[in-house]
Amino acid sequence: MKPLGHLRLGVNIDHVATVRNARGAPYPDPLRAAKLAEAAGADGITAHLREDRRHISDHDIEGLMAGLRVPLNLEMAATDEMQEIALRHRPHAACIVPEKREELTTEGGLDVAGAEARLGRFIAPLREAGIRVSLFIGHERAQIEAAARIGAAVVELHTGAYCDFHYAGETDKRDDELARLAEGAALAASLGLEVHAGHGLTYETVGPVAAFPEVKELNIGHFLIGEAIFRGLEGAIREMRRLMDEART
Ligand code: PXP
Repeated sequence: MKPLGHLRLGVNIDHVATVRNARGAPYPDPLRAAKLAEAAGADGITAHLREDRRHISDHDIEGLMAGLRVPLNLEMAATDEMQEIALRHRPHAACIVPEKREELTTEGGLDVAGAEARLGRFIAPLREAGIRVSLFIGHERAQIEAAARIGAAVVELHTGAYCDFHYAGETDKRDDELARLAEGAALAASLGLEVHAGHGLTYETVGPVAAFPEVKELNIGHFLIGEAIFRGLEGAIREMRRLMDEART
């Protein structure tokens, strides 16, 4: 069988900032972690500027924009404030994520179908500014079709439930969720959307998702930052890269 194409790894450095903010200290520095991730083979860096600034700060985004060689994927809520920040910095990509309960679908992703007109208006200036817009959604057909209709370039499929079922030992539900993610990936690609995936992925759960032929990028954070305690950030990322490559061959 022909090997699948290169699967990009976006390393999410939010939780370096979580550790920093736990003590209100100026360290550990998320930019330093991002540069180490670059050196370890990350294809991109992902950072979520939350409305409550619980981890990444505005200053972090400035530093990442100025200091990175690889593209920055800015995760953000669909608010006026975040739109203004994205338009000011013009990151390579903006991934629109739900932050409030009423913006969520049953799958935990963004409710694009329920707010299609509003989200279409929200992403239009980002698209015009040349920012690649991604929508973080569940695998439901209605959400994927709505994402395509409003002109998103990318959908990022939410792998959180799949990972939760895995660690709860609920293997039937896990496998069912994986099958739905695979169907969602195929549907999204057939509609011309680039397919990414992420949330909760670990060494144990990454393989089957990395093997979806339509998936072009995974965004992984919490597990890698935790694993860095044991093997260092570089070693943690290199092992994830190895497992992704293995799944693609
Ligand atoms: N993708 C999106 C859209 C996310 O919101 C997050 C979490 O910030 C991730 C990927 C990474 O998830 P995790 O930190 O669980 O690996």
